[in-house]
Amino acid sequence: MAKKIGVLTSGGDAPGMNAAVRAVCRSALQKGMEVVGIRRGYNGLLNGDYIEMNAKSVSGIIQRGGTCLYTARCPEFRDLAGVQKGRDKCLELGLDGIVVIGGDGSFRGAADLSAQGIPCIGVPGTIDNDISCTEYTIGYDTAMNTAMEMIDKIRDTTESHDRCSIVEVMGRNAGYIAINVGIAVGAEAVITPEEDYDLNAIAGKMQKVMKSGKTHFLIVVAEGVGKTDYITKTINELTGIETRATILGHVQRGGSPTVRDRVIATQMGYHAVELLEQGIGNRVVGMKNGKIYDVDIQEALSMKKPFEDELYKILNETAF
Ligand code: ADP
Ligand code: F6P
Repeated sequence: MAKKIGVLTSGGDAPGMNAAVRAVCRSALQKGMEVVGIRRGYNGLLNGDYIEMNAKSVSGIIQRGGTCLYTARCPEFRDLAGVQKGRDKCLELGLDGIVVIGGDGSFRGAADLSAQGIPCIGVPGTIDNDISCTEYTIGYDTAMNTAMEMIDKIRDTTESHDRCSIVEVMGRNAGYIAINVGIAVGAEAVITPEEDYDLNAIAGKMQKVMKSGKTHFLIVVAEGVGKTDYITKTINELTGIETRATILGHVQRGGSPTVRDRVIATQMGYHAVELLEQGIGNRVVGMKNGKIYDVDIQEALSMKKPFEDELYKILNETAF
């Protein structure tokens, strides 16, 4: 049974990470464990940047975006020597396990450290919802709501000026944010890396409805497509409508987490501690059929996540 555990956040931050850290810290303390907050991802482990945590350490953070433990990328941890150094630091600190809150990259580090004898549990924290073993990742709902609010504002000015707005949303190589937000804002088209797209066909549909009086349009593009400028220029040329691009960027990563993010982060953090309590490591916590579960890290990393084909179809059949 684990007596002392560490918790860290790694990779890109996501709203709700604080709620997960809080749940890990408080539930571990309730079980009589000691808790160490490791700062700036794996860097903190390698450089001795950590704090002993008590219940008060996580007071007043559940409603905050970002992560109270800070986050970073740590190239050194990609090599065996870095992971072995991490293991030695855990032994020095007397850590019986670590909860790693982050994305796939962070889970690879967690698997490597588990293989060195330090049980690690991954908790999915990323706005992209691109982790295959789970239906939901912490931060996704907040990011989508932020994007939706921003695009609603863009829509006001797009409409006033009889323009077309191309809005790029985040998602790394995935289009989950784009398709959901696209539906929520009533976009005429959504372009994602997962689905083929035809700018001539989109422009053709726009021209058809322009004849019946429609004067403004919204197209949501996932950043992973990597062609926002080209799409903007092409739609402008094909339709003749003044077309402007907006890249929402890091605004989507911040802000107070929604209810969904706070609750799921709390459930996942709690579950991670239950596993470490039993001495279980090398697992990722996820959501399957709406329930919290856990899965072997290697298995989790080899899974493929289906795209939202049904949502994509619905969008295309309701957009015009
Ligand atoms: P995310 O966790 O959001 O996918 P990254 O891919 O940037 O973000 O990974 C975060 C950190 O996890 C990296 O900086 C590194 O410390 C660690 N990491 C990533 N890939 C590996 C790997 N193959 N082996 C060990 N550690 C890794
Ligand atoms: O993974 C979260 C994310 O915000 C992606 O959507 C985006 O591609 C990436 O991180 C941006 O990373 P950075 O903050 O390092 O520019």
